[in-house]
Amino acid sequence: MTVQLTGLHHVRFEARDLDRLEAFATDFGLVTVLREPDRLVMRTRGGDECAYVAARGAVDRFVGLAFAAADRATMDAARARGATDVGQLDLPGSGEAVELIDPDGNSVLLVHGSSRREADEAWAELLLNTPFRKERFGRQQAARDVAPARLWRLGHIGLFVKSFAASAAWYGELLGLIGSDVYHVPGVPQAQIVGFMRLDRGEEWTDHHTLALMQDERGGCHHISFEAQDFEAQQRTHRFLQRQDYEAIWGVGRDPHGSHVFDVWRSPDGARFETFSDTDLLRASDGTRLHDISSVEMDVWSDDEPTRYFI
Ligand SMILES: [Fe+2]
Repeated sequence: MTVQLTGLHHVRFEARDLDRLEAFATDFGLVTVLREPDRLVMRTRGGDECAYVAARGAVDRFVGLAFAAADRATMDAARARGATDVGQLDLPGSGEAVELIDPDGNSVLLVHGSSRREADEAWAELLLNTPFRKERFGRQQAARDVAPARLWRLGHIGLFVKSFAASAAWYGELLGLIGSDVYHVPGVPQAQIVGFMRLDRGEEWTDHHTLALMQDERGGCHHISFEAQDFEAQQRTHRFLQRQDYEAIWGVGRDPHGSHVFDVWRSPDGARFETFSDTDLLRASDGTRLHDISSVEMDVWSDDEPTRYFI
């Protein structure tokens, strides 16, 4: 019996000020599904019933993440590996859930059987005229707004972990995650400290990473990332958020590893929200690339140091 995951299901936080969080997340592009005095549940426009959950808490903190399980057998496989039964998920879309606790104490749910809703309408696809290929004749690019993003799914989450070795082994052995690009201390290949990890989908193509692990004593969540339609959509949402006076952290840029276009913003609880688009796809057989972290460029479009990225 193996654990088969298809993607992320949702993320969970606790926050002191749910009103400010909801206002920011709405401007960022999430849609409120449920707003109770002590709980906020939001979704994307891509068909999920929930993707982001925040409960009122005494401090701002990350609680955990949930993966979508491919089948019922995965739930049984997880139980055989120590997962405890949570029963029916108390969230829109429901489904059954089992829980594991990762080496840093984060709750990791596996969810199966949630209902989905009809996805919203996408923007008209960009039709590009390049020197080599023309796609658009006798018309302008279709109009789009400078507005909150239309987000299509929760794509990945970045975690600060106390020990990269311990967490990468745990997510690898229990949940089958595979390193895509992994980074080591300068000159010491065995001292790995950061890694982009993908799901094991066999010969199916999957995102370059669904989980990013960064060794950092603080623990908790570094960022949550939602898929935007394309870089045009990201640029427009960047402008929209700039006008609201939110704190831009990094982007719009392109990461050479994974190729994704990213744009990262600070949320009122001190976490980071990201849009991404155009990520690489890999199969399980595509292996792991190891890099000296001192040689890594984090944005091919900019020489700026991402000074706020790790604060
Ligand atoms: Fe990211």
